[in-house]
Amino acid sequence: MAVKHYDWKLGQPLPKIGTHSIAKHDVFASYIERYINILSSNPRRRELNLTVVDGFCGGGAYQNGSTIVAGSPLRVLRAVKAAAVGLTMTRQNEFAMRAQFFFIDKRREHTEFLSHELMNSEFGKDVGNSITILTGLFEEQSTEIIRAIKARGPSHRSLFFLDQYGWSAVSFATIREIFADLRNPEVLITFSVDSLIDYFSDATARTMGGQAIELDPAMGDVIRALKTEQGQRQVIQGMLYKHIICSTGADYYTPFFIRSADSRRSYWLLHLSKHTRARDEMARLHWSMSNVFVHPGDAGFNALGFDPSINLDQAKLEFDFGVDARKDSLAAAIDQLPRLVRDDAPDAATPVTIGDLFRAHCNETPLTFDLVSEAIVQLRDAYSEIDVFTEDGRPRPAAKALSWTDQVRNRPQKSFIRKLGR
Ligand SMILES: C[S@@+](CC[C@H](N)C(=O)[O-])C[C@H]1O[C@@H](n2cnc3c(N)ncnc32)[C@H](O)[C@@H]1O
Repeated sequence: MAVKHYDWKLGQPLPKIGTHSIAKHDVFASYIERYINILSSNPRRRELNLTVVDGFCGGGAYQNGSTIVAGSPLRVLRAVKAAAVGLTMTRQNEFAMRAQFFFIDKRREHTEFLSHELMNSEFGKDVGNSITILTGLFEEQSTEIIRAIKARGPSHRSLFFLDQYGWSAVSFATIREIFADLRNPEVLITFSVDSLIDYFSDATARTMGGQAIELDPAMGDVIRALKTEQGQRQVIQGMLYKHIICSTGADYYTPFFIRSADSRRSYWLLHLSKHTRARDEMARLHWSMSNVFVHPGDAGFNALGFDPSINLDQAKLEFDFGVDARKDSLAAAIDQLPRLVRDDAPDAATPVTIGDLFRAHCNETPLTFDLVSEAIVQLRDAYSEIDVFTEDGRPRPAAKALSWTDQVRNRPQKSFIRKLGR
């Protein structure tokens, strides 16, 4: 499938935007607002130093029917501004949002168009100050940007939005550099799995694109053996899953597909981070935007790996983060948790911290911490299979919500109801 390209040129009509791209912008904006609110939740924090990098920024505006809508640069600028205004209004103490923005595009017409858009926006006075617009390949600018982030202080808080067209414009070497050099980076990257499937041949791993993402030639044989698109997607997801975790230096990730209703194709929106809380927040965002994202795997834990014993050509209902997916996820977590608790505990008498359990398994599941907590509460209250303790070893009162530092232990007898197969 050819990936649709957008063109911006001063004096020319704007490119048209699809609903899936608006949904992607909504994810960018919502995540930024959640990110800033979480990092500023401690009232003693008086300032936040953040760098936002939009590495494939485009011209900054689109035609959507009869209206003009903002592209990713204005969406990220407005999201940071909205979060900062919200904090200033609710805080008793002063709060300073110290944000720097880098917008990069390889085409001069696009950066010219963007400069014009931003100069005519509420951010006009920030261009050349907190806003830097660069023309060039993201790959060629990234080292300098990393240096600039490091020069701003020790926290290195940075969000990289890498909205590439296909799947090979950002090399894994560059992502490794971001995660190796910075303390607190997060990367949101689009990855057109469908075009990788279409393009895949014996030679792909040897092409520049294949080398950029360090493809394993053995992947081609597995993909060709599969007949359904759903099966292919799941294999690519499963194989790239391990590959990305091993090759990018990120510890946590969410790899779900943004559904593209217009073209009936989907692409991956990958979120990579070093923090389990960041990962959990992104997963919560997926659930809050149900029907925008799909995940070709199962509900519950171990849902993203590639299990060769499963017949991937068999059609399955789509996991769309909707009401049914939630029910299935809860049921799967209730079924799987006692086994995970048993396997993760050093012995049957020693409880496991829920945060540790979640950290160890969250990369392989669409479950959030809240869903896991809900499953644990049911296993305690409805099935009497699990005991929950506070950090200092006291039983957690029944009505209380669970915390990351709470601990769980299996009761010696499996519940009678579940033994009967419920
Ligand atoms: C999908 S558009 C992104 C649009 C923008 N992120 C938005 O959502 O409004 C991709 C943009 O990346 C630019 N581009 C393509 N390859 C690039 C590269 N290697 N480095 C920087 N920009 C690139 C294209 O010129 C195009 O403007």
